Amino acid sequence: MKKTLLIAAAAVMLSPAAAMAERSGEEVYNTKCSVCHVAGIAGAPKFGDAAAWAPRAEKGIDALLATAITGIKAMPPKGTCADCSDSELKSAIQYMLDAAK
Ligand code: HEC
Repeated sequence: MKKTLLIAAAAVMLSPAAAMAERSGEEVYNTKCSVCHVAGIAGAPKFGDAAAWAPRAEKGIDALLATAITGIKAMPPKGTCADCSDSELKSAIQYMLDAAK
């Protein structure tokens, strides 16, 4: 009985860590960013569009991350991924940059 309780307690303690596991750039892009970036809604640089991304890529990933966090013109802060960590946002930006090479 005691053992079962211990296992249950351990499972409860471990689950928040699992929920916080970092999402990949592709996953964040697909669930949050693609809404606008797949079709270039409201002037968003389109996914895979090298001409649209080249001038942005020149700013460097850290500058892009900074603007993505605060939002830019029609893009809301964090691109609507309010629960994204900085590193998850960065992966999503890198994923879009890589696709536009
Ligand atoms: C509601 C629509 C929308 C969503 C959702 C969205 N974006 Fe954007 N994004 C835009 C628009 C519009 C621009 C272009 C803003 C401009 O420069 O006029 C943009 C521009 C950007 C830029 C370029 C910023 C710069 O400094 O030039 C990055 C990077 C970016 N988005 C990342 C993301 C990421 C990462 C996500 C998902 C977490 C995301 N966006 C979700 C609309 C969106």
